Amino acid sequence: MQELAGKHIVLGLSGGIACYKAAELCRALVKQGATVQVVMTEAAEHFITATTLQALSGRPVFTSQWDGRSASGVDNAMPHINLSREADAVVVAPASADFMAKLLHGRADDLLSLLCLARPIDRVPLILAPAMNREMWAHPATQRNVAQLKADGAHVLDVGQGDQACGETGDGRMLEPEELLGDLIAFFQPKVLAGQRLLITAGPTFEAIDPVRGITNRSSGKMGFAIAQAAREAGAEVTLVAGPVALATPRGVRRVDVMSAEQMLQAVWADVGQATVLVATAAVADWRPAQAADQKIKKDGSGVVPALAFVENPDILATVAASERARSGELYCVGFAAESHDLLAHAQAKRVRKGVPLLVGNIGPETFGRDDNALLLIDEQGSVELPRASKLALARQLVGAIASRLVAR
Ligand code: C5P
Repeated sequence: MQELAGKHIVLGLSGGIACYKAAELCRALVKQGATVQVVMTEAAEHFITATTLQALSGRPVFTSQWDGRSASGVDNAMPHINLSREADAVVVAPASADFMAKLLHGRADDLLSLLCLARPIDRVPLILAPAMNREMWAHPATQRNVAQLKADGAHVLDVGQGDQACGETGDGRMLEPEELLGDLIAFFQPKVLAGQRLLITAGPTFEAIDPVRGITNRSSGKMGFAIAQAAREAGAEVTLVAGPVALATPRGVRRVDVMSAEQMLQAVWADVGQATVLVATAAVADWRPAQAADQKIKKDGSGVVPALAFVENPDILATVAASERARSGELYCVGFAAESHDLLAHAQAKRVRKGVPLLVGNIGPETFGRDDNALLLIDEQGSVELPRASKLALARQLVGAIASRLVAR
């Protein structure tokens, strides 16, 4: 799936060592289907050549407001007008301290600042990826400029933290190309969950038998993590309570790691009071050993196997769905059902049993560990099929479906 197909990005580079990351970003944007027009300041050309960016973008690079070449097929010698009119976004990466100070004042003495000023402000968003030394970033002048640029409508991305090219360590480095790409893809998603706080459970739980053994469920956590990412992209505050999985935390998502069902329930209770939506995708173990042994249970060669007694785990979703906030509609609960057959009938029954307004069914063996899935959405009105697609594509559709149900309440 090309995430930026059909988008035209003007990628501006101002002067900074992070220009080397802009080359990687340019490549990533093209790979995701965007067309990219690169514009560089004179300072940027001290760090990376226009030839590199031309090769990566497949288009001649513009560096001067006096450039008389045809821009966007127009021969009026006005590259600042022509280039800015057709863009879906102007992305300045890196945005140096000096360049931001210049933008703030509406100065326009080179092509990049000129086209930022000349762009149709309500139609072409300006996205800035700051990059500078930590002292420069922390300086009140820079912070003041960033605040004012935001107030003027620019979208200022976060800075990274860590080792800097100057040898110092702190805030101010430019985000990595894949982080910038993720933020840009997120930027273009409709903000249908703005103002909502989502709590999502994901992955399996692990119920200890002894310090080295336990029982668990087959769940990679991929669907829940995709929903967390999609919800964040849609503008929600997201907390992800995750069982033991080997997945990266989606950007901007708060993650709480747990092992057992009881820990998951505790983590959910700690957060659910502030949540407006709960999405329970976790494959919670139905039972846990009644008593986890303190020490490893030894095989003694006698052939006698240990007798394990189990107790039932709490049903996290059903417990929350029965709470006052859920029943009054302040908290919207979404459950999942992984079935092996008769999905519609089982999922319909599960929706009623769990007491949730929306239940999402999927066929377990056809989704475990995979990057794609197919979903069946069941609510009071009936059922809707979301045909097989990537988990992220489905997550975005599900987020849209949740958002429309929140509005319709
Ligand atoms: O009953 P079953 O496990 O099939 O129900 C699945 C749904 O209930 C999922 O949304 C799952 O996250 C949730 N669940 C839960 N706590 C449990 C069992 C299931 O939250 N102990």
